[in-house]
Amino acid sequence: MTNEKIAVACDHGGFRLKGEIIAHLEERGIEYEDFGTFSEESCDYPDFAEAACLAVKDGRCAKAILICGTGIGISIAANKIPGIRAACCSDTFSARFTRMHNDANALCFGGRVVGPGLAVDMVDLFLDTEFEGGRHQKRIDKITALEEKYR
Ligand code: RB5
Repeated sequence: MTNEKIAVACDHGGFRLKGEIIAHLEERGIEYEDFGTFSEESCDYPDFAEAACLAVKDGRCAKAILICGTGIGISIAANKIPGIRAACCSDTFSARFTRMHNDANALCFGGRVVGPGLAVDMVDLFLDTEFEGGRHQKRIDKITALEEKYR
């Protein structure tokens, strides 16, 4: 269970599914901030990935949920922001394990790939699963070191 504020963002390909996710967050009483986009008009997913991920980077939000057509473009863009570990998922096992093993702080998926039922299940697992730490922390530290090395 999370009490933390969640950043939500999408492009036009994820707009409809973002609405379903927001409705679910509201049902669960989870605080969120919607960083757009706000219509199905064509737009560029890096802009929305950036807005939501900066909120995570700055600590205004604890995690991000990002949706584009496939989930891929928005996850690639999100992973360019230092400190963001974005996972593009289309199954519940990955959504759970990316928290346990990768301490992912952004969940990405595709509005043209997954239906609302699966998306909501992935969101719940992503929000409710804790990072395991231990041997996985060393690997996260190595990811952070790569970020520094090639900055
Ligand atoms: C937009 O048409 C589409 O390319 C975008 O939503 C996403 O799927 C990119 O990875």
